[in-house]
Amino acid sequence: MKSIRIAPSILAWDLGYLNQAVDISVQGGADQIHLDIIDGHFAPNITFGPGTVKALRGRCQLKFDTHLMVDRPDEYVQKFLDAGSDILTFHAEVLDAMTFDRLCTTVKRSGKEVGLAIKPSTELPSWAVQRLDKLSAIVVMTVNPGFSGQPMDMSTMPKLERIRDLVERNGTGTDIEIDGGVEPENVREVVKRGGNVLVVGAGVYAKRDPVGAIQALRSRAEKATEEK
Ligand code: DX5
Ligand code: ZN
Repeated sequence: MKSIRIAPSILAWDLGYLNQAVDISVQGGADQIHLDIIDGHFAPNITFGPGTVKALRGRCQLKFDTHLMVDRPDEYVQKFLDAGSDILTFHAEVLDAMTFDRLCTTVKRSGKEVGLAIKPSTELPSWAVQRLDKLSAIVVMTVNPGFSGQPMDMSTMPKLERIRDLVERNGTGTDIEIDGGVEPENVREVVKRGGNVLVVGAGVYAKRDPVGAIQALRSRAEKATEEK
């Protein structure tokens, strides 16, 4: 089992003060920062772009885990690499094998990592199964993309287990990232089912003590790995 990583999603903070969201993550001992990029086409929201990522980059050393919920990742990948993103996560729904390979080449040329995200109703495509070795992370979305603060869709759990088994069988060490509705109450379940990177928006930033919330999530998640 890979180690637990906590990835606060700054979309859940006041968008006028994103620098504070980054500082909270650092203080809470987060492992990476999750940046939700939505273009208003792939999902019904518009968030922020490479300019914002670049402006935040100087504030911390944590990995920038950039979740591109955009229809045309080809047009934006280089901009986010230039802005300082470390993990570039693309959505399987807008890719085919050829486009994915091209994006991979671009990201790896910069020495950065590739993630592949799937919506709750999407299965991992066969071209992705054949390319597990290229993936640092598979992002299993447990809400429909668009907004922070939605409840976790538990019908994704059997798929999560299938992906965990697949990754274990292949031995690629790919992280399994859970994105959407992670809260203290469901951390144990998602970790037991195979998640090891926990994206948390409202579960951190809507709490009265967000720094403490990061620490509490980590200890719950680590306890769940010991129980396995
Ligand atoms: C949804 C985003 C998620 C989300 C996480 O489109 O990809 O990262 O903002 O926030 P919570 O944890 O509040 O669901
Ligand atoms: Zn996300």
